[in-house]
Amino acid sequence: MKIGIVGGGSVGQTLASKLIGNGHDVLMGIRNPSPEELAKERMMTKPLTEWIAETGGEVVTFAQAAAHGDIIFNATSGEHAIRALKLAGDGNLGGKVLIDVSNPLDFSQGMPPALLPQYDHFTSLGEEVQKTFPNARVVKAFNTVSASAMVDASFVKGDHDLFIAGNDGDAKRTVENLARREFGWKSFVDLGDIVGARASEHLLPLWVRLWMIGSSPAVNLKLVRP
Ligand SMILES: NC(=O)c1ccc[n+]([C@@H]2O[C@H](COP(=O)([O-])OP(=O)(O)OC[C@H]3O[C@@H](n4cnc5c(N)ncnc54)[C@H](OP(=O)(O)O)[C@@H]3O)[C@@H](O)[C@H]2O)c1
Repeated sequence: MKIGIVGGGSVGQTLASKLIGNGHDVLMGIRNPSPEELAKERMMTKPLTEWIAETGGEVVTFAQAAAHGDIIFNATSGEHAIRALKLAGDGNLGGKVLIDVSNPLDFSQGMPPALLPQYDHFTSLGEEVQKTFPNARVVKAFNTVSASAMVDASFVKGDHDLFIAGNDGDAKRTVENLARREFGWKSFVDLGDIVGARASEHLLPLWVRLWMIGSSPAVNLKLVRP
């Protein structure tokens, strides 16, 4: 499968490494894939030169990654995600499943982060991505778990759920199938249309708190109902 990852931070690298390891044709995009940029230190992860040496992966521009993918992941900073996807290019996203793993987090006051005020009330980042790129088939997913759990559901012990939301039912089933096949996910909670992204993004303050009190990102939620 051809997969484009927009974003070369710890999440982009984790997703791309796993999918390359599973035999997929993956391109990962950053703003400026110059030799200097690839060699630079990155927050919470390794320089891209090291990632390339380890995985044999390729780092290109956001637009090249998006053009390449039949399925695209948005793994960019929530604050800059819309800008990053505009650089990826409307035309490169149209008609494709766009898996939005980003969270609208505001780290300006340190830990724990707050939700960015522009996304914390009557909208969400997922909805704004869908509104800005109406032809993309946006599915909000994987944003409620750590990067390690995204690509390996067994990173969190026991039964737990992946929350997904989006307007296009077929696109959501495509994401569930990918999550099952590539990452070992077994249980999904479909939150309905893309407005459901509000609910999953609003889980982040709870998730971060659970991580902090347990001193481990190997934590997730399980829905229990009759
Ligand atoms: N860390 C986790 O375990 C986890 C779990 C769930 C969800 N998430 C979400 O996943 C997303 C990615 O997280 P991350 O930690 O990998 O990376 P991040 O540091 O939040 O974002 C990295 C990407 O954002 C791009 N970016 C930053 N500033 C930009 C700007 N001004 N314009 C355009 N693009 C810009 C960077 O581009 P360059 O590469 O060009 O610098 C980079 O590719 C976030 O939204 C995060 O909330 C993270």
